[in-house]
Amino acid sequence: MTLSRRRFLTNSALTATAVPLALTAGIDYCEAASKSPYDLSMGFPADAIRLNYNENTLGPSPKAIEGATAAIHESYRYALADQLRPHIADYQGVDKDWVVMGCGSSEILRLAPIAFGRNGGNVVSAHETWGGLTRVADNFGLNVTRVPLLKDQDYAFDFDGMLDAVDSDTRLFVLVTPNNPTGTTVSYAEIKNIADALPKDVLFVLDQAYVDYQDPQKSGVDLIKEGYSIVLVT
Ligand SMILES: Cc1ncc(COP(=O)(O)O)c(C=O)c1O
Repeated sequence: MTLSRRRFLTNSALTATAVPLALTAGIDYCEAASKSPYDLSMGFPADAIRLNYNENTLGPSPKAIEGATAAIHESYRYALADQLRPHIADYQGVDKDWVVMGCGSSEILRLAPIAFGRNGGNVVSAHETWGGLTRVADNFGLNVTRVPLLKDQDYAFDFDGMLDAVDSDTRLFVLVTPNNPTGTTVSYAEIKNIADALPKDVLFVLDQAYVDYQDPQKSGVDLIKEGYSIVLVT
């Protein structure tokens, strides 16, 4: 598994759907973080880096720190997402109307079942996987089918089982790749097969929070560029 620092860097500071997170060099920033007056340990050793929470060993990009520090003076003014969306759209090569801003990907993942399940229905996902969306779907009264991973196949997703669980009431189909907590990674060809197999009114949610840990390959954004229009990539 190789990580392209340049690609990771370029994505830095943009926290939006369709755009993952990033980092850069500078271990000093970790040391700076450990001097926080707040206890950020969550019960782990204070200097543990929790990769399962999207943390990283290198700290934020100096450019992000510089930008955020400069912007803090303007933070009493209301900023409209429209100022940032065209830049993200340019970077990703998609139309700006396809970019939705959120406070982290969590906000968008939580809004998805509310937007797409407002008239009821069900959600299909896996077990074990990140539950940011499915927990909200549970609370919102949607039926959530969690299809177990295939333990005897290195915790691969059971795509046959997941697609079998899709019926005429299914509103969202959720796939986390690379998966948290197993690291299971799904190829672009498999992603495309699922998109082709899903009914056209089912929102295909691709949570790709860890996509930058993968060798460079196509992501869910490429699916959107190929014309699949009922896809949400975070
Ligand atoms: C798979 C996965 N998706 C989404 C999130 C939420 O990320 P964000 O910080 O963008 O809200 C996490 C956080 O750990 C995660 O592991």
